[in-house]
Amino acid sequence: MKTLIKNIKSLVQVEDKKRLAVCGEDMAKLPSIDNAYLLVNDDKIEDFGTMNDCPKEKFDKEIDAKNRFVLPSFCDSHTHLVYSGSREIEYIDKIKGLSYEEIAKRGGGIVNSALRVQKASEEELYDDAMQRLNSMIKMGTGAVEIKSGYGFTTEAELKMLRVIKKLKENSPLTIKSTFLGAHGVPLEYRDNVDGFVDKVINEMIPKVAQENLAEFIDVFCDKGFFTVEQTDRMLFAGMKYGLKPKIHANELDYSGGIEVGVKYNALSVDHLEYTGKKEIACLKASQTMPTILPGAAFFLNMKYCPARDMIMAGLPIAMASDFNPGSSPSGNMQLILTFACVNYKLTPQEALNATTMNSAYAMDVVDELGSICKGKKANFYITKDIPTIEYMPYFYGENKIDRVFLNGKEIV
Ligand code: NIG
Ligand code: FE
Repeated sequence: MKTLIKNIKSLVQVEDKKRLAVCGEDMAKLPSIDNAYLLVNDDKIEDFGTMNDCPKEKFDKEIDAKNRFVLPSFCDSHTHLVYSGSREIEYIDKIKGLSYEEIAKRGGGIVNSALRVQKASEEELYDDAMQRLNSMIKMGTGAVEIKSGYGFTTEAELKMLRVIKKLKENSPLTIKSTFLGAHGVPLEYRDNVDGFVDKVINEMIPKVAQENLAEFIDVFCDKGFFTVEQTDRMLFAGMKYGLKPKIHANELDYSGGIEVGVKYNALSVDHLEYTGKKEIACLKASQTMPTILPGAAFFLNMKYCPARDMIMAGLPIAMASDFNPGSSPSGNMQLILTFACVNYKLTPQEALNATTMNSAYAMDVVDELGSICKGKKANFYITKDIPTIEYMPYFYGENKIDRVFLNGKEIV
């Protein structure tokens, strides 16, 4: 089945040769072809070019883009979108002055979500998560990483991961699964965190691996959560079972999370509000993708990661939604573009690189997604009638996407 999309105002983020990531000053470049066509064969991109070279033969389906933009779908490389209920009451506590850590200390936050997930059935969790995925598709997301982490017990963690597995089987999105057993400390382990770490290592990881439920392992390595030493032990244990590290780091302090992630060649280290010269140097000497979560920093009103310093040092930057019920209750990647520009002073081109190519790298799908490239998966969208690409982050709060294609099929 071949589909031709013609009369594209500009086909954005094209590449002739697959790149691994976009670094430093290259992030300001967004290779595009004006007045273009795109040819899709089944679920893959077969060809593209200017309308002058558009093939003349008849295809199974022809779509007139009517002079609108076509972009590769967003890759959302960090979410916690399997959860039960919401936490707007804590949000009010936050407005009244309590910090994220204070809320966590009194059993709110992640602990609160864990208690709810433990009680929820697999079906409820699945239905709620599928609804969230479906609205993300409409907003232009084509690939999602989803974490466990609201289980706290082995049984509830496995339940979350089985839900993610079922989502993978039934959603047209490309989904990657991360085991985040060490997301918070269960109340009964408050005085024995190492005991919980042992349980993650000796009980949870082997079971996750045995059922083949995750590709990645994550740990919340930060002040008040898990130490560098505990993170080190858990990453080492996960890697023995083939789980690639991809961790929460330096959100609440200079926690050493970046360094331990790099030590184990993590795919990404995420959050990074506390990143200084030392951390930047460490990342420079690594293959690890620094990933910023602008939604969480905005929603928790935190200090912002020094994105410009990192780009000036030649680093790549990825951005993801961190969709979760506490620190970032939104999976809207178009909003992430706006936050990237307003709060981190990224240009729209840099923001698009951060949410397509670089976030694809951060979830290990850059070989098949993140750009318009021959042979890559046909996950892309046609915009509404917008004047420029800069309009994407500028006209915030509204969906600028008209038609969505995943695996070569029109979904929306
Ligand atoms: O990435 N920082 C740790 N974990 C999540 C928050 C999860 C929650 O509050 O439920 C995050 O922001
Ligand atoms: Fe997170």
